[in-house]
Amino acid sequence: MGQIRVPLCRPFIGEEEIEAVAEVLRSGWLSSGPKVEEFERMFAEYVGAQHAIATSSCTASLHLSLVALGIGEGDEVITSPFTYTATAEAIISSGAAPVFADIDPETLNILPEEIERKVTPKTKAIMPVHIAGYPCRMGEIYDIAERFGLFVVSDAAHAISTEYEGVKIGAMKDLNCFSFYATKNVTTGEGGMITVQDGELASRLRLMRLHGIDRPTWARRRSGRRWYYEVVERGFKYNMSDIQAAIGIRQMEKLNWMQRRREEIARIYAEELGSIDLIRLPSEPERGRHSWHLYIIQLDERLDRDEFIARMAEKGVECGVHFIPLHLHPYYRKRFGLKPGDFPNAEGAFRRVVTLPLFPGMSDEDVGYVVESVKSVINHMTAG
Ligand SMILES: Cc1ncc(COP(=O)(O)O)c(C=O)c1O
Repeated sequence: MGQIRVPLCRPFIGEEEIEAVAEVLRSGWLSSGPKVEEFERMFAEYVGAQHAIATSSCTASLHLSLVALGIGEGDEVITSPFTYTATAEAIISSGAAPVFADIDPETLNILPEEIERKVTPKTKAIMPVHIAGYPCRMGEIYDIAERFGLFVVSDAAHAISTEYEGVKIGAMKDLNCFSFYATKNVTTGEGGMITVQDGELASRLRLMRLHGIDRPTWARRRSGRRWYYEVVERGFKYNMSDIQAAIGIRQMEKLNWMQRRREEIARIYAEELGSIDLIRLPSEPERGRHSWHLYIIQLDERLDRDEFIARMAEKGVECGVHFIPLHLHPYYRKRFGLKPGDFPNAEGAFRRVVTLPLFPGMSDEDVGYVVESVKSVINHMTAG
């Protein structure tokens, strides 16, 4: 492997985030406080949600959402096998069982018709994952949810700016869970957010996020008996700190610019790589907006995916693979009796996918270098 010239991803952090963290550190209030409240307000406004609840991660958000909905032991939640393990891990943590439904080989998103085939009397929720930021077919998914009386909990880790039919994922019912992990479109280092339209559910999530305590420390600071609180719900330690939220606030201020830059880079890739027969480029959603969290291309079966990645690495371009389908991992195979062949579309996609670098701080020169490297590697692999 050569030296990395263009990494897969780099967080877009400037002096403003560093200053914001320093300000919190000097303030004397480090845990959940005014910065978390401000970040939640900004997030809710951006996605058009009624309520936003900041958490420690998307994994925590997904888990908390299921528990708050009363989902647990003996229940089933339908999700995609083509995702990061966090999705199904959250379902398992709730006590419910993940039930996988195969994906559309083009968009890499869960297929509504496969979801419907997997519904049983034990099914309580659908957890669609908007892979790379491409919106799932939410109209059909909500239709299935309504017919069978199921909740929809979106894994929107990649989908902060994603829209379906003009509506951002965060504005949809029932619950939507976001990630601010270091590589995400908005980062707080680690962190997450749940958006919800129902006020009662929002209050329950707020309670459960911090030990089930009725009035968290920040809310008690001006009351007479500051030390008094009551535990009124089952709780978790899933809150976000003001240090993280301060970073998030600065990131939200830059989000429109960062999103436009992602779109610009995706457009350059499409223009420059579109004529290569042996590559299928990610498509633009017909009925929505892509957040371009990841730029996932699919190689023709005649090309060896691993060799392509190794040759790109020799040129200093770091590529990724999103994702290794969950049913191929030893834990899921053992625990749920899954095996290769169970989800042919997910497996076929896995053999072909390569994620190219895409992040707002990429210069035009970086983008050009990735394009040239792809062309040169493909030429090399097809020569003779
Ligand atoms: C699809 C998906 N869901 C959930 C997560 C988990 O996010 P977090 O690291 O914030 O828990 C990730 C993280 O990469 C992800 O890609």
